[in-house]
Amino acid sequence: MAFIPWDEKYSVKIKSIDDQHKKLFGMVNELHDSMLHGKSKEVMGKVLAELVNYTASHFAIEEDYMKKYAFSGYDAHKKEHDDLAKQATDVLNNFTSGKTVLSMAVMDFLKDWLYKHILKTDLLYVEHLIAKGVK
Ligand code: FEO
Repeated sequence: MAFIPWDEKYSVKIKSIDDQHKKLFGMVNELHDSMLHGKSKEVMGKVLAELVNYTASHFAIEEDYMKKYAFSGYDAHKKEHDDLAKQATDVLNNFTSGKTVLSMAVMDFLKDWLYKHILKTDLLYVEHLIAKGVK
């Protein structure tokens, strides 16, 4: 069983964004597997760095859609993205510098922000973007 299995309740009904979210789930699961199987710091650091980079590009794509289609919740959503991106970068930097190790607390933090952000914030733009024809 995956650490965070995909479920239709996380779907935003926009395939391109669902695919990105599924990839993020997959990366968190890969990181969890790496931790459980005692992979080297280099391997885990590489997966974590990829997760942070992919998160940044995913956020940028959503922000482009919201701006392009004048979604009224853009500013609040962007602020949440910026906060999350900073937290994820802090996790990476603390891991890389040896300040923290990858633990279940870190994994739970990554899981929580992914779940909460999708369910509480991403779902807010769904109706607006679908009405604009985003697929
Ligand atoms: Fe799917 Fe707002 O991140």
